Amino acid sequence: MMGNTRDVFAGGVAVITGAGAGIGEGLSRRAGELGMKVVLADIVGDRVETLASELRAGGAEVMPITVDVGKPDELERLAEHVHAVWGDVRLLINNAGIETMGLSWEIPSHRWEQTLNVNIHGVIHGVRAFAPRMLASGKPACIANLASIGSFSVMPTQTAYMVTKHAVQAFTECLYLEMQLTGKPIQVSSIIPGMVKTRIFDATAGEGEPEGAHGYRTAMREMMASYGMDLTEACRIIFDKLAAGEFWVDTQPEMTEGCVGDRISFLKNRAFPAIPAAARGLLGLDN
Ligand SMILES: NC(=O)c1ccc[n+]([C@@H]2O[C@H](COP(=O)([O-])OP(=O)(O)OC[C@H]3O[C@@H](n4cnc5c(N)ncnc54)[C@H](O)[C@@H]3O)[C@@H](O)[C@H]2O)c1
Repeated sequence: MMGNTRDVFAGGVAVITGAGAGIGEGLSRRAGELGMKVVLADIVGDRVETLASELRAGGAEVMPITVDVGKPDELERLAEHVHAVWGDVRLLINNAGIETMGLSWEIPSHRWEQTLNVNIHGVIHGVRAFAPRMLASGKPACIANLASIGSFSVMPTQTAYMVTKHAVQAFTECLYLEMQLTGKPIQVSSIIPGMVKTRIFDATAGEGEPEGAHGYRTAMREMMASYGMDLTEACRIIFDKLAAGEFWVDTQPEMTEGCVGDRISFLKNRAFPAIPAAARGLLGLDN
């Protein structure tokens, strides 16, 4: 799938999970601007209803739907509904995800399960629900999953999140190969944000985290506010790379390169795990 971004996507149906805020919202806006019909799926129904009203007022065709991606049956129903109403899906972005902070042994089991469920199973079951229908249509389509630069690094106090993002990257690479193996016309891409300004580190998003996580969450929120990339810019880059048929859809390639480079040398040297230099301040180690 190659070419001018609008030529590639205009007129197609996009399904975006976690569309109510942050990157999902930004991608939904961009999809609407590019002339796609956009399914806005989020666990918080009010957010996608509000976004839908705004996008409709701007002329976009959108469908807000309340979905918990942690529940495979809900994703199956979503796929069934979208196909019944709008037909073939051109682009699926499995974006919904949550950050969980705190020491591994202090995070309550329900928060661990929620994190693994939303971030890993949400992506896997999104693919299980949509891929068979995309394949049955025989038309070119694209599936993009939200990994992270965290897919190539480790960070104490973000263990739960890191585990899920390593998993999403591995899943996405295997999925790509499965499409190649079976000769299917589905582009598979890994979206790798560096740091993009969103609500992921908001205090309210940390409900259920252990007490000790609060300070780490605040430090990350402040770092995001200072150094995060503008959301609109990030979403423009993501769509351009998807349209160009890239597998590596990163918003800040220099950050990807830094994390991947460190990972390669760590593995090559069979080194002991070490806290990344850039993270020491966040963890209060250089005060
Ligand atoms: N912001 C960044 O810098 C960054 C960096 C790397 C990766 N990511 C990834 O990008 C994705 C989006 O993150 P964001 O920063 O926009 O977060 P965000 O918190 O701003 O938005 C996430 C959205 O997902 C929704 N959501 C949460 N759980 C859901 C569920 N079970 N079902 C459906 N929707 C659900 C939320 O309601 C929210 O609207 C995540 O997968 C995240 O890991 C973000």
